[in-house]
Amino acid sequence: MNMPLLDLTKQYHAIKEEIDQAVIRVLEKGSFILGEEVQLLEEEVASLCGSTYGIGVNSGTDALLLSLMAYGIGNGDEVITTPFTFIATAEVVALLGAKPVFVDIDPKTFNIDVQKIDAAITTKTKAIIPVHLYGQMADMDPIMDIAKKHNFVVIEDAAQAILSEYKGKCAGSIGHTGCFSFFPAKNLGAYGDGGMILTADKETAERLKMLRNHGSRIKYHHSAIGCNSRLDEIQAAVLRVKLRYIQKWTESRRQIAERYNESLKDIVSLATPFKEEWNTCVYNQYTLRVQSRDRLQKHLTDNGIPTAIHYPMPLHLQEAFSYLGYKQGDFPESEKASSDVISLPIYPELIDEQRSAVVAAIKSFNS
Ligand SMILES: Cc1ncc(COP(=O)(O)O)c(C=O)c1O
Repeated sequence: MNMPLLDLTKQYHAIKEEIDQAVIRVLEKGSFILGEEVQLLEEEVASLCGSTYGIGVNSGTDALLLSLMAYGIGNGDEVITTPFTFIATAEVVALLGAKPVFVDIDPKTFNIDVQKIDAAITTKTKAIIPVHLYGQMADMDPIMDIAKKHNFVVIEDAAQAILSEYKGKCAGSIGHTGCFSFFPAKNLGAYGDGGMILTADKETAERLKMLRNHGSRIKYHHSAIGCNSRLDEIQAAVLRVKLRYIQKWTESRRQIAERYNESLKDIVSLATPFKEEWNTCVYNQYTLRVQSRDRLQKHLTDNGIPTAIHYPMPLHLQEAFSYLGYKQGDFPESEKASSDVISLPIYPELIDEQRSAVVAAIKSFNS
């Protein structure tokens, strides 16, 4: 059976007419940057996620970068996050001259271990970036309590978690800002790069809008050093079509995850995803913890089942961060996760036969 890890063309064909019309609408109008589509998308995403303001930007990476810039984080500052994430989370901190300070993960959820945050705080700490990995939110109540006590900014890396909920609140609506990625493989994916920042604070929203547009509020007048990070009208128009389906697609992901859970639950050499009872998960990834991960991955590849490793090397061991001076053994849970995890195909259009083929191939490895 031919099975891609992710099938974006199937989704396009299911909604082709609406997408094509939306793109043509923008082309006919001839307005491509920061127009009506972006503004409407910002309002629609903010409202759907229980926040107030949306700021469309170039990517999830820029959403994080601009959030840090909006709060003046830079040289000499420290920002706490986890090493078990995509590099963008900590890369933006380093780009601004600040120092990423890593805290290990909770081995059950793969998210930051809130018990370990206190030990990482110094007089230089300015912000915490919790990452909602694979589509499940980090434990936000204790994080917000710590932030309030020390006057830190909380920037949610919700790149993988649009519509995920923590105690009834949506990802991106709890921290000072929440950052989404519209990379094509995300649950709400554009046909190119894109991202959005949510915030409930009017001043922060205005500052972010200024920073994403060369630090300019009035054309050719620049009140701060910003960057060019604007979501374009074509991507916004595409995303507005997809937004109408996101709840239905999220539900399909949940159903697929539940069926995987049910079929795999009796295999002792693997652990299906753990979900805290107060969370909902949107399964941007369906990620198992397994024994003999590399051998299993090879077996699945040999049987035509594509998989991915999110992520094979934690950030504290990456060459790019060697200057931070971390070493093997500093974050054992992140290191263990890097050698144990494997992500299976999951997307709303995955059919039962494909899911069954994945399960059968895993079972044949374990029999
Ligand atoms: C956890 C996490 N943070 C940040 C990003 C960066 O998003 P983008 O690729 O849109 O820049 C990603 C995307 O892969 C991500 O998964």
